[in-house]
Amino acid sequence: MVTQPGWSPPEIDLRQPSAARVYDCYLGGSHNFEVDRQLAREAIELWPDLPHIMQANRAFLRRAVRFLVGSGVTQFIDIGSGIPTGGNVHEVAQREDPASRVVYVDRDPVAVAHSRAILAGNEHTAVVDADLRDAGRILGDDAARAMIDFERPVAVLLFAVLHFVPDDDDPAAAVAELGTHLVPGSCLVISHATSDSRPALAAALQQLYNRSATPMTMRTAAQVAELFGEFELVPPGLVWLPQWRPDPGEPVEAEPERMAGYAGVGRKT
Ligand SMILES: C[S@@+](CC[C@H](N)C(=O)[O-])C[C@H]1O[C@@H](n2cnc3c(N)ncnc32)[C@H](O)[C@@H]1O
Repeated sequence: MVTQPGWSPPEIDLRQPSAARVYDCYLGGSHNFEVDRQLAREAIELWPDLPHIMQANRAFLRRAVRFLVGSGVTQFIDIGSGIPTGGNVHEVAQREDPASRVVYVDRDPVAVAHSRAILAGNEHTAVVDADLRDAGRILGDDAARAMIDFERPVAVLLFAVLHFVPDDDDPAAAVAELGTHLVPGSCLVISHATSDSRPALAAALQQLYNRSATPMTMRTAAQVAELFGEFELVPPGLVWLPQWRPDPGEPVEAEPERMAGYAGVGRKT
C-alpha cells in the first residue's frame, strides 16, 4: 500500500501514472509516486533524450514568455501548466515586468494543489482547476476574471499539453473556442510532441503512455500548424523547439529535430 504524503490531494489514484507527475520526474521534481517514476524510468530507457527534450521545452517557455512581455503582452493564461518547477511563467514574466499577471490552469489534482500552495500570497497569479476543452469554465472562473482584463491582449500558453488531447476531442476546436474570447493582439503559444523525426521511438513512447490516465497523440508539423487556426505565426514560424528565437550566444543545436517537438507563437490580427 502506498502512503500519501501531505502535499498529495486525497482523491488521486496512486495506481495509475499521470502525465503531470511523470513530467515532474523527467525534470527532477519530487511531486510524484513510484508508479510515475516507473513509467519515467522505462520511457528514459527507451528514449534517453527525453529529459533533454523536456528541458528544451522549458527553455522555449522562457524565451517565448520573455518575447511576449517584450512585445507588450503581460497577461497570461497557462493551460496544462503542470506541477510548478524552476522558471514558472510568472517568475519569467514578472522578472521582465513585475505587473505581469498569470492564471495557471490544469486538471491534474497534484498540479493544482501544489500551484495553489506555492502561489498563495502572490497577488498577480491565480490557479484554476479546469480542462482545456472547457473554455467556458476557464474564462468564466471568478479568480481568472479578477486577474485578466479581457479588453487587453492576453497570451494563451499551451506548452506540451495539446498532445494529451486526442483527435476525437477536436483540439483545434478547443483552441479556437479559447481564441474567440480574446482581442486582436492576443497571442497563442504552442509546443507539441511529434513523431516526424523519431517515428519508432515516438510510437513506443505512445504505447507506454497508454497505461497512464493521459495517452498521447503525436502530430505532424502540418497538424500542429492547423491548431493555430486564425492566429498568424510570427517569425520564425513553426520550428523545432531549440530553433524558436534562440538567445544570442546560446549554443546552436546541431540536430534540433532530436528534440522531437514543435514550437510556435501566433498572434490574433
Ligand atoms: C507535460 S506537462 C506540461 C507542463 C508545462 N506546460 C510545461 O510545458 O512545462 C502536461 C500538463 O498538461 C496537463 N493536461 C493534460 N491534459 C489536459 C487538459 N485536457 N486540460 C488541462 N490540463 C491538461 C497535465 O495534467 C500536465 O500537467
